[in-house]
Amino acid sequence: MLIALGVCGGIGAYKAVEIARGLQNNGHDVVAIMTRSARRFVGPLTFEAITRRRVITSQFAEGANADIEHISLATAASLLVVAPATANIIGKFANGVADDFLSSLYLATKAPVVIAPAMNTNMLEHEAVQHNLASLVARGVHVVEPGAGYLACGWIGKGRLAEPEAVVRAAEAVLHSAGSLKGRKVLVTAGPTYEDLDPVRFISNRSSGKMGYAIATEAATRGGEVVLVTGPTALQPPPAVEVVRVRRAAEMHAVVMHRAPDVDAVIMAAAVADYTPRRTETEKMPKQADGLVLALERTPDILGDLGQWRSTAGRERPLLIGFAAETSAVDAKAREKLRRKKVDLIVANDISREGAGFEVDTNAVTFIDDGTQDFGPAPGRDVPAIRSKREIASELLDRVEAMLARKTQPARG
Ligand SMILES: Cc1cc2nc3c(=O)[nH]c(=O)nc-3n(C[C@H](O)[C@H](O)[C@H](O)COP(=O)(O)O)c2cc1C
Repeated sequence: MLIALGVCGGIGAYKAVEIARGLQNNGHDVVAIMTRSARRFVGPLTFEAITRRRVITSQFAEGANADIEHISLATAASLLVVAPATANIIGKFANGVADDFLSSLYLATKAPVVIAPAMNTNMLEHEAVQHNLASLVARGVHVVEPGAGYLACGWIGKGRLAEPEAVVRAAEAVLHSAGSLKGRKVLVTAGPTYEDLDPVRFISNRSSGKMGYAIATEAATRGGEVVLVTGPTALQPPPAVEVVRVRRAAEMHAVVMHRAPDVDAVIMAAAVADYTPRRTETEKMPKQADGLVLALERTPDILGDLGQWRSTAGRERPLLIGFAAETSAVDAKAREKLRRKKVDLIVANDISREGAGFEVDTNAVTFIDDGTQDFGPAPGRDVPAIRSKREIASELLDRVEAMLARKTQPARG
């Protein structure tokens, strides 16, 4: 999502660099706006390097085109975060003063606003500042409380800018509650499965879980109630998500089939093993000089069983979305999978391409549906672009939201 980050003139301005980085690490696009005073503390170049976007430093930018930037940003941004928020900007926000870019943006945006005040203790405790803060809170502005401790002015007391992680967490929480998936339940599967041969060996695949975790993170950020059914991965699960850990394909099958009737969409991003050993030895198998022949059997087909169950039950929900990781004839195979498994959408994934597929942060996908919606690559772009997994997750959820909006039957009740 696009986040506008306002930086004001206080010692804590340097910490805003970490906030920008934290928001970006969570997959957001950040536009920094620096007040004139902020630029006395930190150079715009630092933010430019981190955000890879031009920093807005003036209402009347040189070379600005007819596009009135504070209005376009006000509309495009999903959130305005101001850190550090000076006594001055808090006063301007509270009283509707619009004499620079940041204060104009505040008045022009309908996006939620998070401010992290930072100032000397006496300033913070001053009736005027407290009154302004109270009126902003009454207007729905979210305040990240300043911390107590040693202040740059030499005082010890309340007024330190909250830690960058706390500001990022608050921003995520606000985005989460304001999200477009509010009231929707989404089940996401992620990662590989481990099919055990014996207590120390297993058969698996190269899935890192990054695609599924990116989808779960994005769905939670949009306010969805998310169940993440994950195979073994090294990833930290996103906050505010129910995590169900499984190991084998059969366990994932059982959990997904059990939970599916209660959700609005199932997104199967896991790389579920196709085969599992016919038997798992309880003791470690001894090394054999003449090699080893393994007897494997098919694992349950989770997506196929979901499609079958849904069509037999005559239900529209949950939406069923699968991934098809292929190395050749990707679109054709994905179309065939869509029909055979009776699902709504297949995210076709050419894993032979550099920067796509397993273990990397990027991917290249095509959205394949039943042909009633135009979900192919953009016109004139027959090869899908390499994009971050979070970007792809965002586009996928845009499509899920659009499809859910078309289907009227609620998941429950
Ligand atoms: C060294 C120094 C540190 C300052 N630190 C803060 C601060 O932490 N909080 C604050 O509200 N004002 C602080 N100020 C005062 C603001 O910079 C001043 O009120 C300025 O007008 C704020 O402008 P802005 O809100 O447009 O950024 C500081 C000033 C100086 C010179």
